[in-house]
Amino acid sequence: MNLILLGPPGAGKGTQAELLVERFKTPHISTGDIFRAAIKEGTPLGTEAKRYMDSGQLVPDEVVIGIVNERLLKSDCKNGFLLDGFPRTVPQADALDRFLQSNGRKIDAVINIEVESAVLLKRLTGRRVCRNCAAVYHIESKPAKNTGICDHCGGEVYQRDDDAPATVSKRLEVYAAQTEPLISYYRQKGILHSFDGIKPIKEVFEKVCQALGAIPQ
Ligand code: AP5
Ligand code: MG
Ligand code: ZN
Repeated sequence: MNLILLGPPGAGKGTQAELLVERFKTPHISTGDIFRAAIKEGTPLGTEAKRYMDSGQLVPDEVVIGIVNERLLKSDCKNGFLLDGFPRTVPQADALDRFLQSNGRKIDAVINIEVESAVLLKRLTGRRVCRNCAAVYHIESKPAKNTGICDHCGGEVYQRDDDAPATVSKRLEVYAAQTEPLISYYRQKGILHSFDGIKPIKEVFEKVCQALGAIPQ
């Protein structure tokens, strides 16, 4: 299945993606993770993306669209993919539709995770991620077994620069202005499935799996 994970910063897109990828063996394409990897490697893309990410702004559409199109052409995406953090503007969604159509493909479902702002702030300021494999942790609700070390790969677990409180507020503003319109965009297409993201991680996951199981393929 070709899937999109939609939701505000901190809704649990990356957390649910980890579980979905394990169950459905589908490639996880997170534009945020792609940019963080580019920053780590010190590539020109990383240098450009960092300017926007550190201030909580979106990387320009034309940069992101090109990267995702290229990724979707790789052979591992032939039988399905899970997009996380893309699209997040209407022009990105239009470009994705056109690109998939030209390849005889389409999005089967959009998983929209809903969580109120006060909870998002708490989740993001307590979040930690693995620098190596991007696994997601939380200092209170989902700590790594050994502080600072990833359970999965032994990599360094760190705090994202854009999880500083001032940057989080800006990201939430940007989400409301530029990404939230995608909810009605996909509802109109009849492929939106919304979930209460306040529920425990496993419960959200089971609800998502139930909904996906009911989608004809
Ligand atoms: P990106 O990396 O995509 O960040 P984001 O969308 O802001 O989302 P997050 O990764 O912060 O949150 P999440 O929903 O994945 O939550 P998580 O699972 O980690 O993008 C970063 C930046 O890159 C953007 O600001 C932009 O600059 C740029 N960018 C990326 N894509 C772009 C695009 N398409 N166009 C333009 N620019 C782009 O969970 C958060 C915390 O909550 C964790 O600690 C987790 O353990 C905890 N948690 C999760 N679920 C639950 C639960 N059910 N109950 C309790 N705790 C939970
Ligand atoms: Mg994420
Ligand atoms: Zn790791």
